[in-house]
Amino acid sequence: MIILGIETAVDDTGVAIVKDGWKIISTAIHSQIKIHAKTGGVIPEAAAREHLKVVIPLLNLVFEEGKINPAEMDAIAVSTLPGLLGPLLIGVETARTLSLVWQKPVVAVNDWESHALAVFLENEKLFHKFKSKSNWPVVYLIVSGGTSALFLAKYFGDYQLIGQTRDDAAGEAFDKSARLLGLSYPGGPAISKLADEFISKNPSQKLNLLPRPMLQNKSLDFSFSGLKTAVVREVKTDNIPPQELAAQTQEAIDDTLIGKALQAVKKYQPQAIFVGGGVAANKRLREKMNDFPIPFYFPPPKFCVDNAAMTAGSAYYYAKEKVFTPWEKLNIFEARDIKGHLWKY
Ligand code: KG4
Repeated sequence: MIILGIETAVDDTGVAIVKDGWKIISTAIHSQIKIHAKTGGVIPEAAAREHLKVVIPLLNLVFEEGKINPAEMDAIAVSTLPGLLGPLLIGVETARTLSLVWQKPVVAVNDWESHALAVFLENEKLFHKFKSKSNWPVVYLIVSGGTSALFLAKYFGDYQLIGQTRDDAAGEAFDKSARLLGLSYPGGPAISKLADEFISKNPSQKLNLLPRPMLQNKSLDFSFSGLKTAVVREVKTDNIPPQELAAQTQEAIDDTLIGKALQAVKKYQPQAIFVGGGVAANKRLREKMNDFPIPFYFPPPKFCVDNAAMTAGSAYYYAKEKVFTPWEKLNIFEARDIKGHLWKY
């Protein structure tokens, strides 16, 4: 089954063609980082204008590079939530138009799910392993610019939200701390680079200066605003050099994510954990997970941040069950669960 994916939820325009949920035929991303670095964050209207400019050229590119025709597509997948209104509209309107013109069905994709199912991209062995229900339940830890959430997944499309952020998301904590440290947007990679330099020069330095919020709390929710306040305080007192403060911040965020994931494992006894979203690209987080007590899986780093391969990949499970949304009904902030029920954000 071959699916065309379109992803314009926030700031990068993604178009990709994926076969059977894991095999990438072609993928293209237009990064908007340069535009948003100037304003220190994403201005939705600026992002939407850029999506509009590049989405059709990217479509042409993936068909050309994949040496494949639109007629060979079994479905079109588009990310419909969560995201920013203007950017989402560009992707959704593109998918509606293609559906009408090509007469292809559309899957409305929830990016929370697609971030987790990105673990299967280019990993055929893993894809086959998790076809079997005996390898589930799985916990999804989704950590992106707008989301920190934990889901209990009984199987594909069968989810329970078990924890979420009460304020800032993990990526936001990286981005805001980076801004306080005078680093560029996006903050995650900038903090990570500085922190890794510090850790390689000071491998035995303790990195326990900042709070690990909510870890004493039994709830599986996250909260990063207190950590941000602690970073503000440290920046003001100017006692710690920026490189070390970056390492302390990264460690506090990563420890909090791992700590909450451990609590979820204890409570729900899953067989594995899938970690997805932009923050899953964090090198230190990936290293620290090596001590995790159950099997853990990350997508390849380039498929952690927003991309359309994950959109096309996760739509496979819905297309297989014929859970489509007619183009007339396709809307932003609305997706369907695997039973076809409407899910609004
Ligand atoms: O999934 P994503 O592309 O989607 C959203 O737009 O929400 O995530 C972007 C977020 C940003 O907050 C960025 O700072 C963070 O992911 N990020 C990272 C890394 N790469 C991206 N955070 C920590 N370490 C990284 N290497």
